[in-house]
Amino acid sequence: MANTLLLGAQWGDEGKGKVVDVFSAEADIVVRYQGGTNAGHTIEVGGERYVLHLIPSGILHEGKTCVIGNGVVVEPFELVKEIRDLEQRGVAVRGRLLVSDRAHVVLPYHKALDAGLEHRAAADRRIGTTQRGIGPAYADKAARTGWRMGELLEDDWPETLRRRVEEKNRALRELDAPLVDAAALETAMREIVDFLRPYITDTVAALHEAVRCRRTILFEGAQGTMLDIDYGTYPFVTSSNSTAGGVCTGAGVPPRAIDRVIGVIKAYTTRVGEGPFPTELKDEVGEALRAKGREFGATTGRPRRCGWFDAVVARYSAAINGIDAWALTKLDVLDDIHPIRICVAYECDGRRMETVPACSRRLGRCKPVYVEFEGWRQPTVNVTRFQDLPAAARSYVKAVEDLTGLPAEILSVGPGRENTFRLTS
Ligand code: GDP
Ligand code: IMO
Ligand code: MG
Repeated sequence: MANTLLLGAQWGDEGKGKVVDVFSAEADIVVRYQGGTNAGHTIEVGGERYVLHLIPSGILHEGKTCVIGNGVVVEPFELVKEIRDLEQRGVAVRGRLLVSDRAHVVLPYHKALDAGLEHRAAADRRIGTTQRGIGPAYADKAARTGWRMGELLEDDWPETLRRRVEEKNRALRELDAPLVDAAALETAMREIVDFLRPYITDTVAALHEAVRCRRTILFEGAQGTMLDIDYGTYPFVTSSNSTAGGVCTGAGVPPRAIDRVIGVIKAYTTRVGEGPFPTELKDEVGEALRAKGREFGATTGRPRRCGWFDAVVARYSAAINGIDAWALTKLDVLDDIHPIRICVAYECDGRRMETVPACSRRLGRCKPVYVEFEGWRQPTVNVTRFQDLPAAARSYVKAVEDLTGLPAEILSVGPGRENTFRLTS
């Protein structure tokens, strides 16, 4: 099978975890390449619900190897908790999970800085981060003051930790944020470091070997294109490259190792956190989408902002990522909505626009131009073939394909593994 990249084409929470889980069946290795515990990927299997933050969603398929690549920022306490939780639920992780020795470490001071910076920011500069320390950890990486997982294997890590805590406490003091207790952190870390020792390895070499042996690799994106640090709605973005380019830098594989790209996209749009969102619905339709789609953050529990499908965003994502086909999720959430709208262009400062502007303030002034569709007003949740969908639902899927210029390869009409099917028509 071809090596596949699955990534979010909107503002995250498109249903990546669920689609990765479905594709994992055909893969040998599943790789996360960016982000950290800001991600929350939900998978429902046999009535059980799993929310994964760091471990690739492929872990729920027996025998698959999972890799946390060098582009991920790893919170070691959270990682250990996730491993233990899975093992307690009968999912074997030891021996199947490799953690890059080049991945940067997220520690409590990063989280405290994340919270402190958000608290201090003026209301219009607040990002609404997940407060998982992601921005400060990537900032350390770029400033070359970061700390990599491999360094935890060196005997002198406690000294490094003490130095780091001292530096960071100075920054925390300036923010009036709670300080980190170096001694308590060191004691807690001893157990964590021992636990993680067998998992930390050179994943770049392991992936090169996998490519050489033609093992099938599935790359699992976190966040979404509009949260990418370069292509998203800056500064209301995350701190990594969640777009296709992030695979090469975040896993250490060459571009040719990716054979095809699947964009995961919801049949409508959501966003959690601050920043522009042209198709946002602040009315009862938005509330209906939130209620039916259970649109509450998998990581923070925050209500997600909901709105219509934005074809301008989808086309932009398709171009940046080289998307070959869509996995279109949550079609069932539109079951009771009538009429349904899709944004086909923006109007901004008296001009029609077909692309996403770089400037967030400008995007904030964009008014969506909509086309309207019939709702189907009947349940789709048990449908397993495209031809069994109501005619209006088929028309809606076709409209998404036409307006984005790409086929839908996968359709999802419910949260379970069984609510996903391939389009054969
Ligand atoms: P991710 O971050 O992209 O993996 O997405 P999340 O897990 O944060 O959010 C997606 C949510 O939608 C989860 O609660 C999934 O269980 C749920 N979900 C995924 N696909 C579908 C679908 O087709 N229909 C419905 N109703 N729920 C879905
Ligand atoms: P998954 O992988 C949705 C958002 C935050 C905030 C911004 C920056 O589950 O799709 P950060 O903590 O990364 O510094 O926050 O990005 N954000 C997400 N939104 N899904 C995610 O991940 C997200 N990860 C970060 O809400 O607006
Ligand atoms: Mg999520």
